Amino acid sequence: MTITDFHPTAPARSIRTFHPRRGRMSPRQTGALQRLWPRYGLTVPKVPGTPVEPDVLFPRRAPLVLEIGSGMGDATVAMASADPDRDYLAVEVHTPGIANLLDLVEQQSLSNVRVAEGDALDLVSGLPADSLDAVHIFFPDPWPKSRHHKRRIIQPGHVALLRSRLAAGGTLHCATDWAEYAEAMRRTLDADPGLVNPHDGFAPRPAHRPVTRFERRALAAGRPVADLVYRRC
Ligand SMILES: C[S@@+](CC[C@H](N)C(=O)[O-])C[C@H]1O[C@@H](n2cnc3c(N)ncnc32)[C@H](O)[C@@H]1O
Repeated sequence: MTITDFHPTAPARSIRTFHPRRGRMSPRQTGALQRLWPRYGLTVPKVPGTPVEPDVLFPRRAPLVLEIGSGMGDATVAMASADPDRDYLAVEVHTPGIANLLDLVEQQSLSNVRVAEGDALDLVSGLPADSLDAVHIFFPDPWPKSRHHKRRIIQPGHVALLRSRLAAGGTLHCATDWAEYAEAMRRTLDADPGLVNPHDGFAPRPAHRPVTRFERRALAAGRPVADLVYRRC
């Protein structure tokens, strides 16, 4: 596994958990992508299950946090800068978000962040078992229509895959502003045989999860946010 040039990934799965979307990049983001991708970027292998060794991404061995769907990267940088003893790998398919995160990483001189481009499920399938200290999934696309629920990232098969890459005691932390998805997530996570919920239902909002622009918009629209924090047993 090497850090390669930036080539947006052709989607390999027929049922994807993300909306293909175009986005304009600002000159600042374009510059950040060109300059910083070779140093901090990882292209998710096109073949699911291709081994990805976290050791080659960071120059040290530290507990690894995977953030799936990092959006513009504001939660990633806030959490990584407040948590220098762990490494953070963000995975996203949205190029302007990846570029924005790279820019923030440089601005804040963070050495514990790397950014992967591609489908998170393909990336996770190539990670070693027990290699993650935490998985963060903040405001995943809710896919509100019933016929689209199959696209949700929190569903039994995906949860089993994520759990298998968590180390014992590692956490899976999800947050959503979509009430029906929150309930569905809770049912799915409760039913997973390898996860325990240390809280009574939803978790109290952890102070270490920063309020992002996405969350501010949800709160302004009157949608309360639910946190779900489960531990691998
Ligand atoms: C609703 S946004 C939330 C972004 C961010 N977490 C936040 O709180 O602002 C969901 C993000 O997840 C990304 N995403 C969804 N499925 C993904 C997948 N399988 N692999 C990588 N990124 C994914 C989408 O591209 C999108 O940027």
